[in-house]
Amino acid sequence: MNRDMLAGRVAVVTGAASGIGAATVERFAAEGAQVIAVDVAAPARAPGVHPLVGDVSSAQTWQEVADLARAEFGRLDVLFSNASVTVRAPAHELAEADWNRQIAVNLTATYLAMRSCVGLLGAGFPERGAGSVVLCSSVHAIAGLPGHPGYAAAKGGLVSLGRQLAVEYGPAVRVNTVLPGPILTAAWDGIGEEDRQRSVAGTAARRFGRPEEVAAAVTFLASEEGSYVTGACLLVDGGWSAVKDSA
Ligand SMILES: NC(=O)c1ccc[n+]([C@@H]2O[C@H](COP(=O)([O-])OP(=O)(O)OC[C@H]3O[C@@H](n4cnc5c(N)ncnc54)[C@H](O)[C@@H]3O)[C@@H](O)[C@H]2O)c1
Repeated sequence: MNRDMLAGRVAVVTGAASGIGAATVERFAAEGAQVIAVDVAAPARAPGVHPLVGDVSSAQTWQEVADLARAEFGRLDVLFSNASVTVRAPAHELAEADWNRQIAVNLTATYLAMRSCVGLLGAGFPERGAGSVVLCSSVHAIAGLPGHPGYAAAKGGLVSLGRQLAVEYGPAVRVNTVLPGPILTAAWDGIGEEDRQRSVAGTAARRFGRPEEVAAAVTFLASEEGSYVTGACLLVDGGWSAVKDSA
């Protein structure tokens, strides 16, 4: 697929070594972007992809991202803030360090990203309107599942933060949030077949989503095709949140 939706754009994708992040790096590059691919694990090398190994919860990583973008390209056009960790435990059993880590990686990282990169965002194509930031939340922002207090709090926070950033930095920068439902990635490793089947049965699509299907939504929001979309939340959940499963 190559439709040049992001031709000449400079993008940052976090959580780039796996799943939705890796699929988005691939799609962005296929659409003509130069992509700075950030992950604690080494992201795959490919034409147009610039891997950067770093922890998104560290301000140092964001300084390195901004320095690389400034030195190599002089600007940034797109940021997909996607890296995530999950520690499953009810609140009374969740270690404070694990709560803090989930908030840091899943929520604080976006604040750190904006702090370091907002001056570079949207400078490249001012005549076309905007830099574009896309945050990756989850259906956990809108529905509770036992064992996910830190993850849900962070994902809910991203929904509010996305709106806030859209208001704060418009019109130069658009900010939107995607809320994926069940997408078959490494995040599902260790989750049993019964839970998988119940999740799939809870969607109108009656199947898992593929990482490429989230990448497609992110690419729309990142590109000029989404030029009048900002401060929005986009569910990419196969209709999971639309299904009412009791009378
Ligand atoms: N898969 C799903 O069903 C699903 C559903 C809803 C939301 N999401 C969200 O989609 C996003 C991507 O999830 P995925 O399913 O592709 O997961 P994944 O586990 O395949 O990928 C997550 C990536 O984040 C990286 N990462 C973790 N901590 C990091 C850190 N501190 N710094 C940098 N990189 C770090 C990991 O190394 C990994 O490459 C996440 O925000 C997740 O919460 C996923």
